[in-house]
Amino acid sequence: MRALMLSLSLLLAPQAAPAADAVNGETLAKRWCSGCHLVSEDQRKGNDLVPSFASIASRPDFDEDRLATFLLEPHPKMESMALSRIETRNIAAYIAEQRRR
Ligand code: HEC
Repeated sequence: MRALMLSLSLLLAPQAAPAADAVNGETLAKRWCSGCHLVSEDQRKGNDLVPSFASIASRPDFDEDRLATFLLEPHPKMESMALSRIETRNIAAYIAEQRRR
C-alpha cells in the first residue's frame, strides 16, 4: 500500500520542465561553435572577428532565454545548422555559466 501511495504521488507530482544541461551544451558548443567562436577558456584558436562566448555572456543585456531563442535560427554568417529547442537551451545554459565565473 505504501508503495502504491508513493508511486501515485510520483505520478501526480507536477512535471518540472527538464533543467537545461550545460554539460551537454558544452559538448554541442565544442562541436558546432568552436570553428568560429572561442567557446571555452582552454580553447586557444578562434576567429578574431567572432565574439567569444565569455564576452557574449558578459554583455549587460545578456539573457539566457533570448539566447536560446536566437540559436533556433542560424545567424547570418553561419553555415546551416539546425539545433533542437533542448540543444539551444543547453548551449545557452553553458554560455550563461561563463557569466558567473
Ligand atoms: C561559421 C562561423 C560561426 C559558427 C559555426 C557559429 N557562429 Fe556565432 N557568430 C559568428 C559571427 C561571425 C558572429 C558575429 C556576427 C553576427 O552576429 O553575425 C556570431 C555571433 C554570435 C552571437 C552573438 C550575436 C549577437 O547578438 O551579436 C552568438 C550568441 C553566437 N554567435 C552564438 C553561436 C553559437 C551558440 C554557435 C554554435 C551553436 C555559433 N554561434 C556558431 C559566426 C559563427
